[in-house]
Amino acid sequence: MAEKIQENLISLCKRRGFIFQTSEIYGGLQSFYDYGPLGVELKRNIKKLWWKEMVQNHKEIVGLDSSILMHPKTWQASGHLEGFTDPLVECKRCHKRFKADELTKDRCPECGGALTNSKDFNLMFKTFMGSTEDSASEVYLRPETAQGIFVNFKNVLQTSRLKIPFGVAQIGKAFRNEITSGNFIFRIKEFEQMELEYFVNPKNASKIHEKWQKKRLNWYIDLGINKENIRLKKHSKDQLAHYAKACSDVEYNFPFGWSEIEGIANRQDFDLTQHSKFSHQDLVYLDPETGEKFAPHIIEPSAGVERPLLAFLIDAYEEMAGETGKKKEVVLRLDKRLSPIKVAIFPLIKKEPLQKIAKEIFNDLKSAWMCQYDETGSIGKRYRRQDEIGTPYCITVDFDSLDDDSVTIRDRDTREQERIKIKELKLILRQRLDF
Ligand code: GAP
Repeated sequence: MAEKIQENLISLCKRRGFIFQTSEIYGGLQSFYDYGPLGVELKRNIKKLWWKEMVQNHKEIVGLDSSILMHPKTWQASGHLEGFTDPLVECKRCHKRFKADELTKDRCPECGGALTNSKDFNLMFKTFMGSTEDSASEVYLRPETAQGIFVNFKNVLQTSRLKIPFGVAQIGKAFRNEITSGNFIFRIKEFEQMELEYFVNPKNASKIHEKWQKKRLNWYIDLGINKENIRLKKHSKDQLAHYAKACSDVEYNFPFGWSEIEGIANRQDFDLTQHSKFSHQDLVYLDPETGEKFAPHIIEPSAGVERPLLAFLIDAYEEMAGETGKKKEVVLRLDKRLSPIKVAIFPLIKKEPLQKIAKEIFNDLKSAWMCQYDETGSIGKRYRRQDEIGTPYCITVDFDSLDDDSVTIRDRDTREQERIKIKELKLILRQRLDF
């Protein structure tokens, strides 16, 4: 059943323009995806809501946008060159590659062939800068946005007059040459991260780490994820990344099982100490009040954009028996803040003057919210089309509108319709859509 839902959702994503396989006309490129007209809106809404929650709502958190390609020493200092590896085995017969720690048998799961010995495979994508392809010009596509924040620690501190505790947040692309990928957009090679690096006094690190775990879990619940489908899961010592003292994941109950959508780590002073060592720069903090000098510890809530997006879609996806009892109907019960389209406007039929009034309403509302104008098909079909993409409100101009200057507004979740004066529409929508 869960697999069926996943399959139907993936097909909806393609059919309605949320997500496409990249370069599809050439047969696609495995583990890379493109976001269509609705997907791009959903992604932008997630990023906007994250930024509001993590930057705008805090006086002590600021933003940053750093380069994807960084000085190669960054990755030496961060430990990624040496340690950001997965154990790789290859089938000697079919040459498929697998993560050794995910295999349950010592034969190829695809063809039963013998496997090579496991070797460490670095997940960073390498490229070359300049005109020569030698080791001196090697650079890496960043595997996490976090390092851009650490190398700018001093710049931000000196220019923003922030005092500890303070945070620097960033949203941007990250790349990982994952050995195994799959489950649609869950494990991909190019993705976006939303990361906060929160610099704290070591004395308070554990307490602040606890606080961020709760805050991050609640963010998803507040945005509509069902409490039963989301949890915090603490890493055991052997699951911790090389830099972390403690870490908890926010996990979502996907059709393929409980899986991480965000990690909240206590990175200690690992990063700043390493970058101090490799750059010979003093990356310590001098407390202006106590005179105390220390390398701040870092608490890091780190989420992707795509995994939460998939979780929001799956959680919102509902199939219901159609009103006529025949074909099933899909409603995407996304939180209104996430919905790609907020308002759809229809003339009851494709005739003047209903079209003219509906277009005027569309033109009036479009600067405030993402709106769609639709005049094709029966009104029932148009409602279904909007339900399927999660549009919270549909407005219909009918023949009564010519006499009473009113329209009907239909609510996606209750399916109730109210009659509202056209001149009051904006105000009413503002009350329902602006948060
Ligand atoms: N700076 C810490 C860090 O990068 P991570 O647990 O490796 O930690 C954080 O990644 C988040 O980035 C994950 O929780 C996930 O949402 C996202 N992410 C990581 N690898 C991904 C992949 N291959 N595909 C999609 N999202 C990924």
